[in-house]
Amino acid sequence: MNKDFKPKIIVFCCNWCSYAGADLAGVSRLQMKPYFRVIRTMCSGRVDPEFVLNAFTKGADGVMIAGCHPGDCHYINGNYKTRRRYLLLKQMIAQLGINPQRLRLEWISASEATKFQQTINNFIDEITKLGPQSQYPYGEV
Ligand code: FES
Repeated sequence: MNKDFKPKIIVFCCNWCSYAGADLAGVSRLQMKPYFRVIRTMCSGRVDPEFVLNAFTKGADGVMIAGCHPGDCHYINGNYKTRRRYLLLKQMIAQLGINPQRLRLEWISASEATKFQQTINNFIDEITKLGPQSQYPYGEV
C-alpha cells in the first residue's frame, strides 16, 4: 500500500437527509478525512447510473450514494429505486473491472452527523487499502 495515496471519493447526497447530515457533521466540527467531495442531488433516486460511471471514468477511487432511510424519502420511493439500481450498478462495475467495494450505498438522516462522519472515514480507509482505481487499467481481478 502506498502511504502517500490520497483517494478521491465522490459522495452523492440527497438534499433532504444526507446532505443535511453531512452539513451537520461539518458545522459540529466532527473530524473527517479531507479526501471526499459532496455532490448534492434532490433525491438519491436522481443519481443516474451514468453519474457513477462518469465519476469512475474521470478518476474517482470510490463513490458513495447517500440517501434518506427507507420509508423517509421525500419523493416517496426514490430511495427504493436507488437500492435496486445500486445492486445492478455493483454488478456492472465488476464487469468493467472495477472492484464493487468501491461503490457504497448508505442511508443517513439529517440528524445523523456522527453516522456520516463514521461512514465517510470508514469508506476512505477501505478505499485507501484498495489503492488507486486507475492503477488497474485492465481491471482489478
Ligand atoms: Fe432523500 Fe429521496 S429525498 S432519498
